[in-house]
Amino acid sequence: MKNRYAVFGHPIKHSKSPLIHQAFAEQTLQTMSYEAQDVPADQFETAVKDFFNHGGKGLNCTIPLKELACLKADILSPRAQAAKAVNTLALQEDGMIFGDNTDGIGLVRDLTINHGILLDNARILILGAGGACRGIIRPLMDHHPQSLFIANRTASKAVTLAEEFSGLIAIKGGSFDQLSGRQFDLIINATAASLSNDLPPLPAGLLADNGNCYDLAYANEPTPFVQWGKINNAGKSLDGLGMLVEQAAEAFFIWRGVKPDTQPVITRLRNAHAMT
Ligand code: ATR
Repeated sequence: MKNRYAVFGHPIKHSKSPLIHQAFAEQTLQTMSYEAQDVPADQFETAVKDFFNHGGKGLNCTIPLKELACLKADILSPRAQAAKAVNTLALQEDGMIFGDNTDGIGLVRDLTINHGILLDNARILILGAGGACRGIIRPLMDHHPQSLFIANRTASKAVTLAEEFSGLIAIKGGSFDQLSGRQFDLIINATAASLSNDLPPLPAGLLADNGNCYDLAYANEPTPFVQWGKINNAGKSLDGLGMLVEQAAEAFFIWRGVKPDTQPVITRLRNAHAMT
């Protein structure tokens, strides 16, 4: 029997993960299968048990299952502990389930390796203080930015999150109103606003000269935030497709011990976008 892998989520119909992992498997000559399975939160426990009892070796978990996956893991990586969310589960030889979170490293690789954006000494603004924000803070901090500001519609959530990660660098949280007069070298949109074609309220002049914008979301058309970046003269204004492929590559490495080449897969997905 082939080694089985899958992504669980709800909804899952439009997931690009099967395509990405099949491309990685072909490229690295791995014999494995990877399927998408619609799993609502209340069926997660049973679905995971069933999967690992029937030849399953590794799982990706996406919305709304990342927190549940974190609870399900027997062992957590330090970055999954910091994120309090897991997107990758791996069955170990001793039967224990290892949980990791590859979202943050996926973002950092797309920014730094694929796009040459320096994080060292950068003034970074993250919009949003939900799970997506939590998952990227530690990996960004590892690259020694000068400062990190978290702005959120519900300001108290941003303040609490910043306090949790305080100590290593200058990190603060607040409301969108507190952004006026400030400038940032990199603005990351981690709100769910793009999903409803919406944009957080951002003052003009927020982006430093040659500053960059990155939306964790992606869509066939540029998201409202990517458009905002372009209008506001961002050096680069990027969506999260590269991050999606990079987080998948890290999961693939955890499972198979081989690092796939991400660039051809990113290009393939971009071209597929252009055709739809
Ligand atoms: P995720 O796990 O994807 O981060 P989440 O935990 O529900 O999802 O968080 C969604 C984030 O997007 C929150 O920061 C939310 O702001 P609130 O904490 O004030 O709810 C933010 N968000 C969602 N829709 C938004 C919108 N239209 N404008 C601005 N922020 C929005």
